[in-house]
Amino acid sequence: MESQRNARLKIMGIDTWTLRDLSPPHGPLAVSRLQEAMSPAGDCPDGLTDWTSLKAKVRDCQRCPLHETRTQTVFGTGDEEARWMFIGEAPGEQEDLKGEPFVGRAGQLLDEMVKALGLERSTVYIANVLKCRPPRNRDPLPFEAEACESYLLDQLQLVSPSILVAVGRIAAQHLLKTTTPIGKLRGVVHDYHGIPLVVTYHPAYLLRAQTEKRRAWEDLKLARQTLAGATVKRASNGLLL
Ligand code: URA
Repeated sequence: MESQRNARLKIMGIDTWTLRDLSPPHGPLAVSRLQEAMSPAGDCPDGLTDWTSLKAKVRDCQRCPLHETRTQTVFGTGDEEARWMFIGEAPGEQEDLKGEPFVGRAGQLLDEMVKALGLERSTVYIANVLKCRPPRNRDPLPFEAEACESYLLDQLQLVSPSILVAVGRIAAQHLLKTTTPIGKLRGVVHDYHGIPLVVTYHPAYLLRAQTEKRRAWEDLKLARQTLAGATVKRASNGLLL
């Protein structure tokens, strides 16, 4: 039957097609090994990375001298499919010791800010511009932020959040590559690699300037409105949320 059909197709000048076996030759593990072999440090061939290889790359990073003084790297934490992503500046002493961002007093206030939005820390993603603590908590240097940038971009690609909140002046200025004062960066929805970004005050600053908390809440409401607007727009366009 099949050979007759093939013969007829051949007469008509149509090459016979056989289905290619699209299943992995030796299961998914073989595919991931193949990807590892094809690209350095476990990057997928298409330039994407995966959580496991990204975490390993950050853990072993020696791209800048901060690796000499860190206790450990501070990768990021939270829901790896979160819609909200908060990006701070760099780990401080507590974070360097614990290996988790925003765990000190500023972190507790950030948790409160997240809760004010009706969210839990575990349902958002939290990361920093730098994955290593600068000595004596000094500001990150431009070349350190540059060395670390691809890690944050990879995190962004993997989490694929709908809204970004830059936590504090330093984070905002590094992300937006500007020296504009935070007062002028707030209240505006920026674009960071296609994702809306809102700037707010750093909780460490808010601990010192309690009266500014009201402004920080305005920022978070702007982020929430932006997220709601983006959702409505996408839904009315018939695209996936
Ligand atoms: N400040 C930051 O910007 N990030 C942290 O992780 C802790 C404090």
